[in-house]
Amino acid sequence: MSVVSAPGKMILLGEHAVVFGKPAIAMGIDLRLTCTVRKGRQNTVNGQPLNERQHAYVAAAIRDHWPGGPLDITIDSEFPSGSGLGSSAALTVALLGAMSQMGGGIDEESVARAAFDVESTVQGRASPLDTSVSSHGQGIFVDSAPGKDLLWHIRRDSRQWYVHHCPVPDLTFVVGFTGIRAPTGPLVAKVKRYVDRTRFAKEVVDEIGDITVEGAKRLRDRDVVALGGLMTRDHNLLAILGVSSPELQRLVDAAIPFSYGAKLTGAGGGGSMIALTDRPEKVAGAIARRGGVPYIVRTGVDGVRAEDSPR
Ligand code: MEV
Repeated sequence: MSVVSAPGKMILLGEHAVVFGKPAIAMGIDLRLTCTVRKGRQNTVNGQPLNERQHAYVAAAIRDHWPGGPLDITIDSEFPSGSGLGSSAALTVALLGAMSQMGGGIDEESVARAAFDVESTVQGRASPLDTSVSSHGQGIFVDSAPGKDLLWHIRRDSRQWYVHHCPVPDLTFVVGFTGIRAPTGPLVAKVKRYVDRTRFAKEVVDEIGDITVEGAKRLRDRDVVALGGLMTRDHNLLAILGVSSPELQRLVDAAIPFSYGAKLTGAGGGGSMIALTDRPEKVAGAIARRGGVPYIVRTGVDGVRAEDSPR
């Protein structure tokens, strides 16, 4: 038996653009998903036989990365799936971590590589952002060239990403979940169609890349005013790409008066937004009044890890 957990994530800057090789910054958050894995008589998930459609990530992880017999898998998550907080990445990472643990031990980089492989297979098109941050925890900066604190380098087709450790200063964020579950694959495909067809969308993606580079400097300097401003600009550009929604916009608008900045996080289309603030209770209240589910989150958390108290 093996019990392994992995954190959810929030993307500070650069989602969608990262799929086109632009930089992005993501951080692990203190909401975790735990996988308990035992040898079984058939593959099961939470007591039900494995269903390839319903449990696509689990099915792909077992098919492509597990050489052993049937597994009995229990998933226990502190955050909802489809919420833009990286539930599919955390599930894939925790499960692959549990499989590695059964084979002797967890290697963060191997888990990150295998998890990206699974996400790409299931989603059709992805960047290693979510799976890498869930594996590493803390913060990561993904770029098209190597730099200081390089963790690993991942290639797929003609695209490549250099994943770096990014120190996370002590900042307070509030996440607001719209309650709408939005799968990532179709949103990534929608942006790709837009970028393939118009020069304008390509320029928007370039501008998100520039904002992210600037944001990495502001994060290092702990310049929350500038960083918040960049987050809000990034949100407006993501809205132009067509991945915001009325519900997300409502929560962003509710948070802005009490925040340095706010934006959708993850694939969008529903899911969640984040606000950078030093008045988290006020932001959480404003989000709840507009029908969102607020979470005040802590960053600087562990990545994939074995849990020593099996349940
Ligand atoms: C989803 O959390 C982030 C996206 O950039 C997709 C990806 O990077 O694979 C929208």
